[in-house]
Amino acid sequence: MRGVDVAGAAEVTDATESGDRTAIRVSGVSKSFGSTAVLTDLDLVVGMREKVALIGPSGSGKTTVLRVLAGLERPDGGEVALFGSTVWPRPPKAVYRRVMLDVGMVFQQFNLFPHMTALRNVMEGPMRAKGWSRGAAAEKAREVLDMVGMSGYEKSWPAQLSGGQQQRVAIARTLAMEPRLLLLDEVTSALDPELVGEVLAVIRRLSTDTDLTILMVTHEMTFAARSADRVLMFDSGVVVENGPAQEVLRNPGHERTRRFLSAVLER
Ligand SMILES: Nc1ncnc2c1ncn2[C@@H]1O[C@H](COP(=O)(O)OP(=O)(O)OP(=O)(O)O)[C@@H](O)[C@H]1O
Ligand SMILES: [Mg+2]
Repeated sequence: MRGVDVAGAAEVTDATESGDRTAIRVSGVSKSFGSTAVLTDLDLVVGMREKVALIGPSGSGKTTVLRVLAGLERPDGGEVALFGSTVWPRPPKAVYRRVMLDVGMVFQQFNLFPHMTALRNVMEGPMRAKGWSRGAAAEKAREVLDMVGMSGYEKSWPAQLSGGQQQRVAIARTLAMEPRLLLLDEVTSALDPELVGEVLAVIRRLSTDTDLTILMVTHEMTFAARSADRVLMFDSGVVVENGPAQEVLRNPGHERTRRFLSAVLER
């Protein structure tokens, strides 16, 4: 096994040194659930440090794309590479694990561990997945809680926090793993309207102040226009429109995008 791991490691180094500046490269990916084709021959390229918003109607496959990128869903065909390393078809386990440590995902439902304080929730990943000491994990946890405006809540239990605060702790939990790619799946959709702003402010700060590559599924169009470099409009598992955020949202080129935007903006 060791030999395989070493060969895999060399591959990663080669890919990085070959100068592939792409954070995400999806080529010809298909995915069906039973007889439902969700992704059809999908191509998707996201550059390093790019902030991309994924929009589109319910059931169009947005979550499925993020889950494929996070390794939670196995494509039926095609290729996926992250930071120049192939992750589908699966490389040797050690290589795969190392590349996937660069990927963090935040979900609509924040699901903090209810029996752990905010600080402990954030410490858990680095301690378990990276083998960090308690002290190092606590230091990192304090740093990322500060980034999401949750300093002072270290000792709070999830049940004592609002939905917006819990979601910010969930974002901190992902950041504590020091990802290079952040996948955000409608992270404000489960929140009361008055709590949406504080979470969007955190994401906005991450998009301006960090080197993270961010791919976010959102229904917050104004936010997408302001925070993303690029918008991808998704329909039936394919990208129907792809362009600078302001342009796509203000002046969509495709009829399907126009219809979608007028429907969501009327809500
Ligand atoms: N695990 C699964 N098993 C069966 N069908 C699934 C599964 N996951 C997703 N689907 C189906 O795949 C299609 C795409 O789902 P997906 O969740 O990717 O859409 P979405 O664009 O994120 O939608 P929404 O905006 O409602 O979140 C839907 O028809 C959904 O019912
Ligand atoms: Mg979804």
